[in-house]
Amino acid sequence: MLLLLLLLLLVLLLALAARWRASWSNSHWRRRGICGPQGCPLLGNMALFALGQRSYGEVYAQIYREHPGLRYVGFYRLFNEPALLVRDERLLREVLVGSSFACCADNAVNVDAQRDVLASCNPFIASGDRWRKLRADLVPLFTPSRLRQTLPHVAAACQQLRPFVERRLIRERFEAKALATRYTLQVIASAAFGLDAHCLCQDEQQEQGSEWLEWLVPLFQPSAWSLPETIALLHSSRLASILQHRYVPLSLQHWLCDLVRTSASANSFLRWLGEQQGSDLAGHATTLLLEGYETSAMLLAFALYELSLNESVQRRVHAELTEVAKRHGGLLLGHAALAELRYAEATLLETLRLHPAMQALQKRCTKSFTLPAQRWDTDTETDSSLQVALGTVLVLPVQAIHLDPQLYAEPLKFQPERFMDASPGLGCRFLAFGAGPRMCPGMRLGLAQTKAALVTLLQDYSVHLADQRQPPVQVSPLTFLTASKQGIWLQLRKR
Ligand code: HEM
Ligand SMILES: *[C@@H]1O[C@H](CO)[C@@H](O)[C@H](O)[C@H]1NC(C)=O
Repeated sequence: MLLLLLLLLLVLLLALAARWRASWSNSHWRRRGICGPQGCPLLGNMALFALGQRSYGEVYAQIYREHPGLRYVGFYRLFNEPALLVRDERLLREVLVGSSFACCADNAVNVDAQRDVLASCNPFIASGDRWRKLRADLVPLFTPSRLRQTLPHVAAACQQLRPFVERRLIRERFEAKALATRYTLQVIASAAFGLDAHCLCQDEQQEQGSEWLEWLVPLFQPSAWSLPETIALLHSSRLASILQHRYVPLSLQHWLCDLVRTSASANSFLRWLGEQQGSDLAGHATTLLLEGYETSAMLLAFALYELSLNESVQRRVHAELTEVAKRHGGLLLGHAALAELRYAEATLLETLRLHPAMQALQKRCTKSFTLPAQRWDTDTETDSSLQVALGTVLVLPVQAIHLDPQLYAEPLKFQPERFMDASPGLGCRFLAFGAGPRMCPGMRLGLAQTKAALVTLLQDYSVHLADQRQPPVQVSPLTFLTASKQGIWLQLRKR
């Protein structure tokens, strides 16, 4: 009896201590005079995300919307980690491109270099000098002249896409992301390794045993493990080691290393990398593959979806490609023709505005620096400025910025015209590729391969919803890269 009572007392004390600790860490920002939402114990302001109800992008978007008067908001990520959500365009610029870049250049992701050997060679994941070196290895692959040398791989995949669609999809409803993934895998296998991935075979017999489809299609798909993996990746290195999570599963790692050993045909990324001294081939191959297919496939799928929703945009894309094809003897896949397809490109940028692959960028402060006063209406006096502590995560809420009516009028409307005259690189209001020294080096290639497939499909077909009554596509709340919950179901009709 006494024992039971003691036990009860102990539990009570522990609960009180936990509660006190929670409220203490919850007062982190209050004690520093920084405004922001109250967090709950343990889950901070991310309860809906932790429960699998909202994507992290939506959670950040709500915090963004609820604090219009502030340049940045003090809030709590999971496990009560104090973090700052940056709202002001000038500050975003400062952090990504300007003088504060050097103080928060690292992405806040938890990947264990010992456990996840290949993934940790990704510049997105690496930090400090290692990042600089890895990025410097890759950047020469994406110069305009290398892009031109890469385009034949893109054109070849488009040439396979045509009969594939003709034979296997026409008049049937299909899942756009699945089709798009086949295509981007076909491109990247060819461009990076010089290999035929057998993802766009005309009959199903031939594609039997396409290891590319088998290994890589499920990798980014929402599953029962997605949420704990996303939480581990973004919020907790401890959880990551408990789960023994690997971004690149061990079996995939072996398969990739074999691929790298056995292939490096001329005019492929691997061959070009091989000509450089001392670069880690297997690591770079992994980066090119994983970065190369998923984001572009999602972009292609969402672009087809948006076109099926908005007839007037689709008509304009059709009109443009007819006109450009006329000028180029019916061929759209050369460098010059692709460059002339400006409305198609604007359509892709507008798609990324509404559906950015990364809903937020999250940077970690590696050297303390100062932010100006939190409120717009206060001047930058030193006494109301904030000294950002080492290790603090700065959230740059990409999705929230892209949907801010102050930055984009009628933000929910799909209007590629927004991108027809403004260059998206200007300012930090378009962040689908990030900005500054860490900006996506594959942007041109990603846009080119997606655009090539888009116009290849639209040259022959118009695209429609599979079912006019289907509910709008929902974004999975579980994944790190934007994915749809139930798939994107569409139908093609011959033009
Ligand atoms: C539409 C397609 C793509 C989108 C939306 C996209 C988006 C992004 C974003 C948001 C980042 C993070 C930027 C930051 O940390 O500030 C990034 C980084 C990166 N991307 Fe892409 N990307 C795309 C295609 C590609 C392609 C095709 C490749 C290469 C084959 C590529 C290679 C990389 C690499 C290596 C990084 C890390 C850069 C660094 O940290 O220095 N991306 N991408
Ligand atoms: C469809 O596209 C047109 C042209 O960009 C645009 O004006 C209109 O607002 C779009 N409609 C919707 C519902 O997004």
